[in-house]
Amino acid sequence: MQQGKFITLEGIDGAGKSTHLTWLENFLNSKGIDVVTTREPGGTAFGEQLRALLLDPRQRMHAETETLLMFAARREHLDKIILPSLNRGDWVISDRFTDASFAYQGGGRGVSSDKLQILEQWVQGSFQPDLTLYFDVPIETARQRVQLVKAADRFEQEQDEFFRQVRAAYLQRAQQFPERIHLIDASQPLHVVAAALECIVQEVLFN
Ligand code: TYD
Repeated sequence: MQQGKFITLEGIDGAGKSTHLTWLENFLNSKGIDVVTTREPGGTAFGEQLRALLLDPRQRMHAETETLLMFAARREHLDKIILPSLNRGDWVISDRFTDASFAYQGGGRGVSSDKLQILEQWVQGSFQPDLTLYFDVPIETARQRVQLVKAADRFEQEQDEFFRQVRAAYLQRAQQFPERIHLIDASQPLHVVAAALECIVQEVLFN
C-alpha cells in the first residue's frame, strides 16, 4: 500500500538535524515531491502533549515509563500522520523515530533491547524507514551547539556520560543496519554535510 518514502533523521542533541531537515525538505520539493515533515516524540496533537511531559525538566519518571510513552506517541504518530501520508503518496521526513528509543532509552537509560524490540514489533510490526540519516558528532561539539540555542530540556540536562552511551548505541545500530542507516560526519561545515546528504539521497532513493 505504501507509495511515498519514509526518511528519518537521527543524532544526539546538537548534531544539527533541524538544519539538515530543512535542507532535505527543500531538496525533495525541488524534485517535485510532496513532503510531510514531522517529529518524535510528537507529530500529533496528543503526541505533542506527551512530548511536553517527556521533555519537561521538572518531570521525574522511571526509564520504562519514559520508553512506554515514547512508543505510545509513536503508535499515534504512525496511525494519524506517517502511514496515511505515505499511503497518499507523500514522502515523510521525521525528526527522530525508533532508533532514538534504542539510543536514548536503550543506550542512555539502560532499558534492555529485548524490551525495546517487543515494543517495536508491537507498535510498527516490520515497518521501517526507507532511509535513516544518522548525523554523528563528538559529544563536545554537540554540547557547544545545544548551549548556544536554548534552555536545556530534560534530555539535554543529562551529563556527558549519558550522551556517550547514546552515541555508542547509535553507532552500533548504524553498524547493525548498514543498508538502512547512513552515517554522516556532522562535525564538518554545513555545505559539506549537505553535499554528503545529497549524494546519499540520490543513491538510495532515486536510483
Ligand atoms: P529533539 O529532537 O532534540 O528536539 P529539539 O531539537 O527541539 O531539542 O528532542 C527530542 C528529545 O527526545 C531528544 O533529546 C531525544 C529524545 N527522544 C528519546 O529519548 N527517545 C525517543 O524515542 C525519541 C523519539 C526522542
